[in-house]
Amino acid sequence: MQVRAAAIPESSDRKRLHVITWGCQMNVYDSARMQDVLAPLGYAPTSAPRDADMVILNTCHIREKAAEKVFSELGRLHRLQQAREQAGGRMILAVAGCVAQAEGVEILARAPYVDIVLGPQTYHRLPEMVARAARAAGTVIDTEFPAEDKFDYLPDASAPQGITAFLTVQEGCDKFCSFCVVPYTRGAEQSRPAAAVIAEARRLVAQGAREITLLGQNVNAWHGEGLDGGAWSLGRLIRALAELPGLGRLRYTTSHPRDMDAELVSAHRDVPSLMPFLHLPVQSGSDRVLAAMNRGHRVDDYLRTVDRLRTARPDLGLSSDFIVGHPGETEADFAATLALVRRVVFAQAFSFKYSPRPGTPAAAAPSQVSEPEKERRLAELQELLRAQQARFNAGCVGLDLPVLFTGAGRHPGQIAGRSPYLQPVHATGPTTLIGTEAMVRIAAALPNSLSGTLSTERACA
Ligand code: 5AD
Ligand code: SF4
Repeated sequence: MQVRAAAIPESSDRKRLHVITWGCQMNVYDSARMQDVLAPLGYAPTSAPRDADMVILNTCHIREKAAEKVFSELGRLHRLQQAREQAGGRMILAVAGCVAQAEGVEILARAPYVDIVLGPQTYHRLPEMVARAARAAGTVIDTEFPAEDKFDYLPDASAPQGITAFLTVQEGCDKFCSFCVVPYTRGAEQSRPAAAVIAEARRLVAQGAREITLLGQNVNAWHGEGLDGGAWSLGRLIRALAELPGLGRLRYTTSHPRDMDAELVSAHRDVPSLMPFLHLPVQSGSDRVLAAMNRGHRVDDYLRTVDRLRTARPDLGLSSDFIVGHPGETEADFAATLALVRRVVFAQAFSFKYSPRPGTPAAAAPSQVSEPEKERRLAELQELLRAQQARFNAGCVGLDLPVLFTGAGRHPGQIAGRSPYLQPVHATGPTTLIGTEAMVRIAAALPNSLSGTLSTERACA
C-alpha cells in the first residue's frame, strides 16, 4: 500500500523533496523524520515528483508484491531523472526502508541510477549521504546497524504531525517468526528510554496532537529505561503518558501475544485514554502451524489473553493479522483458523496469502501450499472477517461514540474523525470541532465507516 506522498506548501527558492511511503505506520513515521533531517539542508517537501530535486522511496519488504512495486516505481522515476539531466539539472534518487536493507545489492544491479540506498537504522546519516551523492557518481550505500542510536542524532520533529500522531518507542524484533523479514531488515529489539518518549509526546501535544499511537514492530516488548532509572514495561509507560495534559487518546501497535503482560492488561482497565481497540496478530488458529511459524504461543494462550483483556476492558474491539497457506498448512489447520475467528470475533482484521521471503526459514521449507489453494483459503477467511466487521459496525448503530474530529468530511457541512475503534465517522457539524472529541450518535454503518449526528449526552460505556 502506498501510504502518503508529502503535500506541504512548496517554495521555489528551496530544494524540493518528494517522499513516497509504502508499508507500515513505522514507515510513515520514518518518512516524516527523514524530512526533518533534510530540512536544515534546505529541502522542503513537494507533492510533485517531476519538480523534485530529491526523491526518497521509503519501502516495504514484508511481502513480495510490496517489494516489486519499488522496482516499477524506480523505472518511472528514472525517466523523470533523465529528463531533469537533459535540462541541465539533477534529481537525487534514494531508496530507504526494508527493501533497501534487504536488497541493496539487487537495487544496484537492477537500478544503477539510484544515488542512495539506506537502511532504516541510518536515517540520521542522510545529510552526509546526500552530500556524498551530490559530489560523486555511483551509489552511496549505508545499510549498517550502527552502534549509535539514530534517535540521539535525529533532530526534534519540526513539521507538526497533526491531531493524530505517531511516536516510535521500540524498533526491531528478536522473535524470528519463520515467515518474516523484519528481524533481518529492522534488526534486534531496541527500546527508547521513557524520558525521550515522554519528551517527544509532550512536543507532539504542544503541536496539536490529541491522539498518539506508540509504534514498534513489537511494541509491547518495549522495556525501556524508566523515569526512575529502573526497567519499565509498556503498561507503565502508558500510565505515565496518560498524565500528559491535552493528550486525550493513546494507542499502541503492533503487539505480540507473548508480550501481553499483566501491567499492560491492567492499563486497559485503568487508563481511560487508552483506546478500547487492540491489534493483536495471531496469524493462525492451528497449534501445528503456530509451532511451524515459531510464534512461541499456542491457540489457548491467545484465547486466554483475549479473555484477560476483555475482562479488563469489556468494550475492547480486537483486530488481528492472519496468514493463510504457510508451508505445511493443511485443510484441517485452515479450518482451525476459521474456528478461532468464530470464537474470538474481530472488529476488523488483515489477512494475507503466505508470500515466501528470501532468507527466511519458511521460504526454504518443503510442502509449500499451491497458489490456487492459498487464494481459496484467503477468500473464505476474508468473507468471514468481512462479515464480522460488518456486524461489529452494525452493532455501533444507536450508540453514542466519542469521535476525535480530524478534518472536513466528504460533503459540505460534514466533519470526519475516528471512533475509539478506529472506524472513520462522518457527522454534520462545524469545523470548529476539528481537533476536539465530541459524542456522535451513530445512525448508519457502512462496511468501512460510520455516520451519525452530534449528540450531547454520553450514553456508551
Ligand atoms: N507472507 C505473508 N504475510 C506476511 N506477513 C509478514 N510476513 C509475511 C509473509 N512472508 C504479515 C503478517 C504480519 C503482517 C504485518 O504481515 O501477518 O503480522
Ligand atoms: Fe515479524 Fe512480528 Fe514475528 Fe517479529 S513478531 S518476526 S515482526 S511477525
